[in-house]
Amino acid sequence: MAHRVFVTRELPGEGFASLLTDAAVEVDVWPQDGPPPRAALLERVRGVDGLVCLITDRVDADVLDAAGPQLRVVSAMAVGVDNIDVAECASRGIAVGNTPGVLTETTADIAWALILAAGRRIVEAAEYVKGGEWRTWSPTQLAGVDVHGATLGVVGFGAIGQAVARRAQGFGMRVLYWNRTARSDEAGELGAERRSFDDLLAESDFVSVNVALTDETRGLIDASALSRMKSSAILVNTARGPIVDEAALVEALREGRIAAAGLDVTAVEPLPMESPLLTMRNVVVLPHIGSASLSTRCKMADMAVANLRAGLAGGPLPNAVMV
Ligand code: DGY
Repeated sequence: MAHRVFVTRELPGEGFASLLTDAAVEVDVWPQDGPPPRAALLERVRGVDGLVCLITDRVDADVLDAAGPQLRVVSAMAVGVDNIDVAECASRGIAVGNTPGVLTETTADIAWALILAAGRRIVEAAEYVKGGEWRTWSPTQLAGVDVHGATLGVVGFGAIGQAVARRAQGFGMRVLYWNRTARSDEAGELGAERRSFDDLLAESDFVSVNVALTDETRGLIDASALSRMKSSAILVNTARGPIVDEAALVEALREGRIAAAGLDVTAVEPLPMESPLLTMRNVVVLPHIGSASLSTRCKMADMAVANLRAGLAGGPLPNAVMV
């Protein structure tokens, strides 16, 4: 009998295309552009053996209950799995897969796009031109801060944090990192110095957030952390929105306690249009596009399908998430 699978969105890549034509798998794909509403998710998972989900789908005990005891695998097309109750899956013997590695460099590119955009006021400057405000050249017009030669603080020195740090070498930056465990070998190669969390915040001109969202990192960049940063510092977050206390960030920006922010992720996504962040000239917000190059998204989808297939076959996943 064919395995039943629900995929919460149409995916790019060859793996997904081959899944659709595989007679051994009966695939139900959510046909719309947005995520399935909660009720639809609970309905569509009923009786499936495998679920392929995105970061927009909350996979908790209710979803697992709705699916039923035959569910073998939850495969995320993402590296971050904070939307999945991994412990609950493990307790039920359901494998969870993710897509690390392939998006590392692409995400680091976006962190750098934000470092440059926020530091050199790129979005503001482009809007200035499009808005017809460019009438002359003047000495301090749209003057930002230098990125080259500045100090970059990387919060979370995993693969993406290291890729962000590697790019800083080309800009002649001093690189500091904070990580739960020392990453001496990698740091040595990249010339990065380990600091306590507080010291990193106090010394950095740019702070790049690259930790995973966990119970420990939720709200890590709170009012107290922001108060330790330089008033000229720029915060860049390409990890997960809830790592930063957004209300505290708004306050800090309003009061000039930090200079600017570049955010690829926000506490609520999509960012509500009434968010004060959208009214601030010194804030660049992107719609969670860190991994959004077509090539990387195809690789992620292929990995998600490979994890799904392995899970359906009852084997170990090529990329399994452990509790
Ligand atoms: C992830 O993979 O966790 C990103 O946030 C989306 O690519």
